[in-house]
Amino acid sequence: MLEELSLLKTIALSELTTAASPADLEAIRVKTLGKKGSLTQILRGLGQMNDAQRATLGAMANAFKEEFAQTLANRMEHLKQAELDTRLQREWVDVTLPGRPRTTGTLHPVTRAQNEIIAIFTAMGFPPASGPEVESDWYNFAALNIPPDHPAREMHDTFYLPPDPEGHKRLLRTHTSPVQIRVMKGCQPPLRAIAPGKVFRCDSDITHTPMFHQVEGFMVDEGVHFGQLKGLLEAFLVEFFERPLPVRFRPSFFPFTEPSAEVDMGCLFCHGQGCRVCKRTGWLEVLGCGLIHPNVLANVGIDRERYTGFAFGMGVERLAMLKYGFPDLRALFDNDIRFLSRYA
Ligand code: DAH
Repeated sequence: MLEELSLLKTIALSELTTAASPADLEAIRVKTLGKKGSLTQILRGLGQMNDAQRATLGAMANAFKEEFAQTLANRMEHLKQAELDTRLQREWVDVTLPGRPRTTGTLHPVTRAQNEIIAIFTAMGFPPASGPEVESDWYNFAALNIPPDHPAREMHDTFYLPPDPEGHKRLLRTHTSPVQIRVMKGCQPPLRAIAPGKVFRCDSDITHTPMFHQVEGFMVDEGVHFGQLKGLLEAFLVEFFERPLPVRFRPSFFPFTEPSAEVDMGCLFCHGQGCRVCKRTGWLEVLGCGLIHPNVLANVGIDRERYTGFAFGMGVERLAMLKYGFPDLRALFDNDIRFLSRYA
């Protein structure tokens, strides 16, 4: 029995010192000291022993239990320390590195203005549509009732690109009106959409940049008339500028609309008194619009006898400048963080 105990001791202690986890330690404890454990089995034999043997075995068993407990505690301590070391290694941070400043990114004023315009028209039932920035002559001009020798082409300061592999003329779109054509072509009324996007003209001074943004809008259905266009644009301007505003429609000319109008709103800066921004007129020109020319409807296969439509186009930079009150268009493209954060 003494030999058995001595063997148990050798095995149990060696198992403890190589256990890989707290769970393993617990399993060894139960296997050795538990109710059905090896030590308990050995001690069952105590009854058949004489006093002297019992005393010796009892003392040995107690010494073993003590050594077992001590070894288990040591191993547990070792395992916990090892686990902590691994965690520290994993979560190591170099506190001497310089801190990272919090960057406060914001939307560019043009993006903000464009998003607001889109939100207003979407709520009025005009879903956004898009088209390519590299366009063909047909979409940008011919389909919009601007034939090759039309003087309106002169005003567009077009950037022409080398022709495509089939020899078709390509250009950077000079306005978002070609998206009207893309949406209408192959679809039948009722149709409504707005088309926000970049446009390009070979022009650069205080009030012009070679790239700028426009939002185009249009609607085609039976019985569409100028009164609806007028109501829509007035409601848009009041909502965009967040205040009641006088609005007027001035006759104008665009090849793709007939009749055509330019829309002015009361000057936000002098309230009609006349100032530098409105060139002493009391009015600010903000939009072009009109009823879609029947030729344009015919060009996209829409019955020009049955349907009518209206269209409008606006410059986003101009509306952003007026709304946020900054004077120079070019500041929008300098990317000077001090300017941009002032209008964030
Ligand atoms: N495409 C015109 C431009 O870039 C703007 C415009 C005017 C669009 C009148 C329209 C419109 O749809 O009806 O100058």
